[in-house]
Amino acid sequence: MELKISRAEALKPLPDESELTFGTVFSDHMFNMDYDQNRGWHNPRIEPYQPIVMDPSTMVLHYGQSIFEGLKAFKTESGAVQLFRPEENFKRFNRSGHKLCMPPIDEAFALEALKELLKIDKRWVPSTLGTSLYIRPTIIAMDPYVGVRASYTYRFFIILSPVGAYYKEGFNPVKIWVTDKYVRAVRGGMGEVKTAGNYAASLYAGEEANRIGYTQVLWLDGVELKYIEEVGSMNIFFVIDDEIITPALSGSILSGITRDTVKQLADKWGKPVSERRISIDELIAAHEAGKLQEMFGSGTAAVISPVGEVMYKDKIMKIGDGKVGKWSQKFFTAITDIQYGVAEDPDGWIMPLE
Ligand code: COI
Repeated sequence: MELKISRAEALKPLPDESELTFGTVFSDHMFNMDYDQNRGWHNPRIEPYQPIVMDPSTMVLHYGQSIFEGLKAFKTESGAVQLFRPEENFKRFNRSGHKLCMPPIDEAFALEALKELLKIDKRWVPSTLGTSLYIRPTIIAMDPYVGVRASYTYRFFIILSPVGAYYKEGFNPVKIWVTDKYVRAVRGGMGEVKTAGNYAASLYAGEEANRIGYTQVLWLDGVELKYIEEVGSMNIFFVIDDEIITPALSGSILSGITRDTVKQLADKWGKPVSERRISIDELIAAHEAGKLQEMFGSGTAAVISPVGEVMYKDKIMKIGDGKVGKWSQKFFTAITDIQYGVAEDPDGWIMPLE
């Protein structure tokens, strides 16, 4: 397939890097490609960033048949641009698509198209430490039809957004609320894939958390409301009595790429992560015994996000001494050093742009 390129006539001004937040500013160009049953995926093109014009009956608007990914491009000190484990994102993209009854994309082609897009919009990769260019590949159902079935047509697009920290707290401890009222996903459902509906399902509880002063919701399993799952925008880790623990993937937890990176680093450091079921009761007991040393989230957007306080029912648990914990710091430094080209990349996680 030939990738067509049409460039924007006027380029937008770049944002002030010191004021970057998350996901509000978008670059000059985007990638687009269409699917129909006769031609398969066709017409791949890079063109100026622009609205997607659609019929009000377009299926994605009604039934949420959509998937997305999140990955980042980093600028090194020498000005080179590099991606972090991008193949993993495109693999997961196809896994999500499969669950949403979408046709698979050619992962290698998508990655090449992304690299072309990045070359064109390279000036949008910010260079301050802690900033990056967030990449959002998305596929949406495009049939103009309001009956319920899988769409026959799709649009695949990639947009780019220069970002700073995901949470307003930056790399400082966040406060999370454990809900025993709402659930995000159940086994056999969509919890393990990146589809819009999972995020829509998290909003109501998220607003309740915000109202009582908490940044995020920590979800429990949807069957017994007992076992800890994930935060929605990140996976979760605990350090209890020197054991690093993360909930095992149950089918309702997203298989995070940063989660996997943490696991691989921990293995290498001779401190393997225990992937197992962990209940909220175990967490409370560990806290009461003074054994809950640390808690942190992991995600592409969030990187490593220390957790400083957890609320469950009427119980408030302060974690550690309110500062960034030893392991949070160690994982954060190791991951970001590789991403920004400060440290060696022995595992081939970095893909240079050129
Ligand atoms: C990511 O970490 O890339 C995510 O997709 C989480 C969130 C921004 C939805």
